[in-house]
Amino acid sequence: MNIRPEILAVPAYNFSEQNYKTKLDQNESPYDLPAKLKAEVLAKFAKLSFNRYPQLDAHSLRQKLAKNIGWSSNNIVISGGSNILIQALVSAAAINKTVLTIRPSFSLYAMQAQIQAAKLVEISLKEGFELPMADLLAELKKSAGVFFIANPAAPTGNLFSKQDILALAHASSESWLMVIDEAYHEFSDTDYSYLINDFEHVVSLRTLSKAYGLAGVRLGYGLMDKKLAQEIQKLIIPFSISIFQEIVAEVVLDNSQYLEARIYDIKQEHKRVFAALEKMPNISPYQSTTNFILFKVNDAASFYNNLLAQEVLIRRQDHLLNLENCLRVNIGTKEENDIFLAAMDQTIKELANGKTS
Ligand SMILES: Cc1ncc(COP(=O)(O)O)c(C=O)c1O
Repeated sequence: MNIRPEILAVPAYNFSEQNYKTKLDQNESPYDLPAKLKAEVLAKFAKLSFNRYPQLDAHSLRQKLAKNIGWSSNNIVISGGSNILIQALVSAAAINKTVLTIRPSFSLYAMQAQIQAAKLVEISLKEGFELPMADLLAELKKSAGVFFIANPAAPTGNLFSKQDILALAHASSESWLMVIDEAYHEFSDTDYSYLINDFEHVVSLRTLSKAYGLAGVRLGYGLMDKKLAQEIQKLIIPFSISIFQEIVAEVVLDNSQYLEARIYDIKQEHKRVFAALEKMPNISPYQSTTNFILFKVNDAASFYNNLLAQEVLIRRQDHLLNLENCLRVNIGTKEENDIFLAAMDQTIKELANGKTS
């Protein structure tokens, strides 16, 4: 089989379908597009010519998005999910060079490094999920490539300090692209895109899969310096944003007022779920500013299986460095969160009585 050895060496993306009624495993929004907006999308979609290509580089959508977020469309590269931009950024600047990131972090950075034959350097977070600043700064000085940092972090959910991020932006400015993955920034009220004005190597990565609730539609974008955007755009396959993706995004951006209340509800529910987990015996949730909570139990496999037996699906994280016995749950609707919390109570009782699923 004529496949590059780097590809053969990479395990397939680790995600398997399970039986569940309550799905809290992928940090999605629990809210679908409002029915009125769905109807508007479908009506507009029906009028389009399916035999014609979409616009090159999603030109109109880029302009609408630019207006919506207060940037120029020349600073934006749109892709079918921010995952695609992660791939593009590695191609742009890390092949035969380095992908630098922290560990644990979003798995795709490492996976793309391996697939695209970049050297992968992952530096472990310190106690309390703090940035290993000395080691990061040393690596930034020593080599070149793409440096990925998710802020808020994933899967730990914490925010890094502004001072550290700024120091890293300075230290990476000569030989690196620094990608600040802000997939969850709507929940933390942070926004590092302003760094782009000072640093032409900084990219702020955004997704419509989380707060916008459009994971199934697949849309993400990067904000960056205009010159850099021109180059990165070349790596996004022409016409790869379909007419359906364009229509959904345009309708959502034209009606985005409804999102604020949803984000507020998720934040409120986050507080409630966190407080409830904190009160449970031998359960330790970690503070997060995202739509998910990482928490430690005394036996991750038994908890996960017992919850699944109650048809509640969350995510195991206990295979990751320093996340022994950790699980991750995303915030759902109030009803879903109640089901999760009741299933946790039940699990604790059953495991105390020696029952495993
Ligand atoms: C930190 C981070 N970045 C990027 C993504 C991928 O987002 P998208 O759905 O836009 O590809 C995720 C998805 O879970 C994520 O957690």
